[in-house]
Amino acid sequence: MSSAQVIADSSTRVIAIANQKGGVGKTTTTVNLGAALAEMGQRVLLIDLDPQANASTGLGINPRSIEKNMYDVLLADTPLEDTIEPAPDVEGLFLAPSSLDLAGAEIELVPGFNRERRLIDALSPIVDDYDFVFIDCPPSLGLLTINALVAATEVLVPIQCEYYALEGVGQLVRNVELVRKSLNPSLEISTIVLVMYDARTKLAGQVVDEVRAHFGEIVCKIVIPRVVRLSEAPSYGQPITVFDPENRGAQAYRDLANEVLGNELDLDESPAQAPLQPGIGLASSPVVEPDDTAQDSRVEETVSELEVSEEEDEALERDDVDAGSGSFDEDDISDGEAQSNEDVLGGVKSDLEALVATTETAEQRETAEQEETAEQEETADEVLDLREREERDDEDRVTTEAEDTELGAVPSMPSPNPVIDLIQPHDKQGDRS
Ligand SMILES: Nc1ncnc2c1ncn2[C@@H]1O[C@H](COP(=O)(O)OP(=O)(O)OP(=O)(O)O)[C@@H](O)[C@H]1O
Ligand SMILES: [Mg+2]
Repeated sequence: MSSAQVIADSSTRVIAIANQKGGVGKTTTTVNLGAALAEMGQRVLLIDLDPQANASTGLGINPRSIEKNMYDVLLADTPLEDTIEPAPDVEGLFLAPSSLDLAGAEIELVPGFNRERRLIDALSPIVDDYDFVFIDCPPSLGLLTINALVAATEVLVPIQCEYYALEGVGQLVRNVELVRKSLNPSLEISTIVLVMYDARTKLAGQVVDEVRAHFGEIVCKIVIPRVVRLSEAPSYGQPITVFDPENRGAQAYRDLANEVLGNELDLDESPAQAPLQPGIGLASSPVVEPDDTAQDSRVEETVSELEVSEEEDEALERDDVDAGSGSFDEDDISDGEAQSNEDVLGGVKSDLEALVATTETAEQRETAEQEETAEQEETADEVLDLREREERDDEDRVTTEAEDTELGAVPSMPSPNPVIDLIQPHDKQGDRS
């Protein structure tokens, strides 16, 4: 039997977590959804297919201390099982680690025989040992991601509730379609997860509404909130479910795990969805105008906030988000922003339509792109102000907490910079071809 048939016949769900845009929450979702599922008794394998090795370090596994890794599997025919390590803190969770060498694999694989099928061939002998296999893809659409799409039975796409969130999604949809037609007939985009939702920005609400309107059923009901603790957990080598089990980021990933398992959800009861009340009707959730006064006083209060207990800290964070969420006025959405987001989504829609027939001329497209860019730049300025304030706030909190903690571990990861993300979104993309 071919390896493709083995995986198609298996009851194991092999899920590629892909989005070629960088820093959108692929690894955070891989690690924390995997950990939440393992906590619920599922046997889960995470395959780290990104040379950055963030999933490996995020689980407390130093790729340098591992003898064999995914590079050896893809290029030296090392059996996949020889690389697999149990996650230190989560029973039932396992990792096939990456290494920096994997960066060269994209090039080294090019002349290789069966170059798109290396991963599926390595996975098929052991796939039945697991209930779930998650493949953390790099931010590119190169051969590593193609290997993941060929081995997977489904694709999960995290989409950031941020500006430019949908950039590149049309390209990803096209590639999945190409792989489905030529290499993996059972592949489908089964799940879209909205992540880094911040109820204080009206933009986040707009992205949620519009992604739901365009992608419908495959968009998860659960939305993952933007929570500082989620970004701190990897520096301690732990999933959020271990690092801060009661945090609403941990609860959100548990809720997501339930949704992925097909279990009934009670969103009214979920603290993770508090900013999205009322109820499941996320598409009509109140969108909050950022409150400048609240933001400024929050910065001033940061130091005293850090002195309170973890529970109080959480409550403050929730109150902060809930403040002002009582009313929503249609006028809160300015015409400029609404228009520009529609344009972005319109781009995705037309990408989808282009799969069937391409009618637009290159000239028309160029003009449309120029108009879109001008409108996007206008809105980006507004978002920048808010984001800069939040970044300063978050940085203060992270620094002070690291100093306070007994562990004393100074996070060694390069800190992300969403401000740069907003100004130069193209720089973060590995592959736009
Ligand atoms: N819900 C969240 N709240 C706060 N921070 C988050 C959240 N999700 C992810 N982050 C942070 O955002 C950054 C990017 O996330 P992540 O590394 O998961 O993205 P990625 O898509 O895997 O990136 P890359 O494309 O580089 O592999 C990280 O610093 C992460 O800790
Ligand atoms: Mg990643």
